[in-house]
Amino acid sequence: MKEHIVITGASGLVGRALLARYLDQGHPVIALCRKPPALPSNPLMSWHWADVSLPHLGLDPATYAEVCAKARMVFHLAARTDFKDAKATSYLPVNLEGVEHALALAQEAGGPLHHVSTAFVCGDWLGEFREADLGLGQGFRNGYEESKFLGESFLHRAMATATPVPITVYRPGIVVERNPSAASGKTFGPFLFLDAVVRLREMAATDDVGPSALRVLGNRLAHLPLVFDDAVAEALVRLAAKPESAGLVFQLVAPQPVGNILLEDAFNEAFGQPAARFADEDAFSRQPANSLEALLARKTTPYAAYLDLSVRFTRHNLDAFAGTDSLPTPTRAELAKAFRAFLAARTQRSAP
Ligand SMILES: NC(=O)c1ccc[n+]([C@@H]2O[C@H](COP(=O)([O-])OP(=O)(O)OC[C@H]3O[C@@H](n4cnc5c(N)ncnc54)[C@H](OP(=O)(O)O)[C@@H]3O)[C@@H](O)[C@H]2O)c1
Repeated sequence: MKEHIVITGASGLVGRALLARYLDQGHPVIALCRKPPALPSNPLMSWHWADVSLPHLGLDPATYAEVCAKARMVFHLAARTDFKDAKATSYLPVNLEGVEHALALAQEAGGPLHHVSTAFVCGDWLGEFREADLGLGQGFRNGYEESKFLGESFLHRAMATATPVPITVYRPGIVVERNPSAASGKTFGPFLFLDAVVRLREMAATDDVGPSALRVLGNRLAHLPLVFDDAVAEALVRLAAKPESAGLVFQLVAPQPVGNILLEDAFNEAFGQPAARFADEDAFSRQPANSLEALLARKTTPYAAYLDLSVRFTRHNLDAFAGTDSLPTPTRAELAKAFRAFLAARTQRSAP
């Protein structure tokens, strides 16, 4: 019976949320990733070791055939998501060839492919970026963005030629885990700053060199397209249930981005005192970074380029197909709660 939802990348931040949502709804799910997803065991979930960079995702012929026979739809989320390399080359086996292999799997299964791309296929585009936009001559901040752009571009070419399976593309903004735990807790995005600031405050407590609030180079008037993991999962499930979503691109962003000032407030609320604040280049030239601020900048380098964003993503398709209540804008209180949970999980992880 073709009733299984197949999810590549089910052990990751977004994959876990999607997997949990389908399991909650009573759907059988096949998780394909190299580590089993850190979720309580569930008879509806099966896991196979898979490497998407390999043909047939590295599955043996019998397992590949079994997965294809059972698959009702394929969600492709597996990706290399770090920002370590400036160029796409080293990411391509996973973020481009992995997409090719996921499409081959969906075709063999005869079910739709739901591909999770990223809003940052926009690269350094300024202004409005629409669902219909892709290659606008933008540059890329890192190899991750460029490789995700190339992966999505491959699928658009496949869609333009007659493809036997329906393909839907989703572009989430920056995903924040709503309930980070010691077991989950990916140190990514805003969490990377929380982690770095805790470490530096611990150092400052012994060295006594730090100011009360560390300054981070960033534009206080800029904003970030933050969304919560569970809201992204809910939107994916709602949209995938609609056959009319095939062939479309959905930008999974909130109606409004989160302003850097609100983010700073939530951050400091989680610490219970001023711990970090954005400052611009003028402020740093008037008062150069102290040793802790220089270290903070070094530890968070890959994210520096995201603290001056002005791009705006449209979400017309999301509003039309999933409703305007889908993916609400994270509030300060919700963000502070997630940040507090991350700090607590971090303490738990580092406890002996
Ligand atoms: N997090 C965000 O803010 C965000 C924003 C926009 C778009 N996205 C997209 O959403 C998707 C999921 O992101 P995420 O944040 O959940 O990423 P993540 O936490 O880094 O998880 C990545 C997932 O990909 C799997 N994976 C990596 N390399 C693999 C390989 N060679 N073969 C098989 N599986 C592999 C990992 O599983 P194993 O390590 O267990 O194999 C893991 O399940 C990605 O496509 C990403 O580009 C994420």
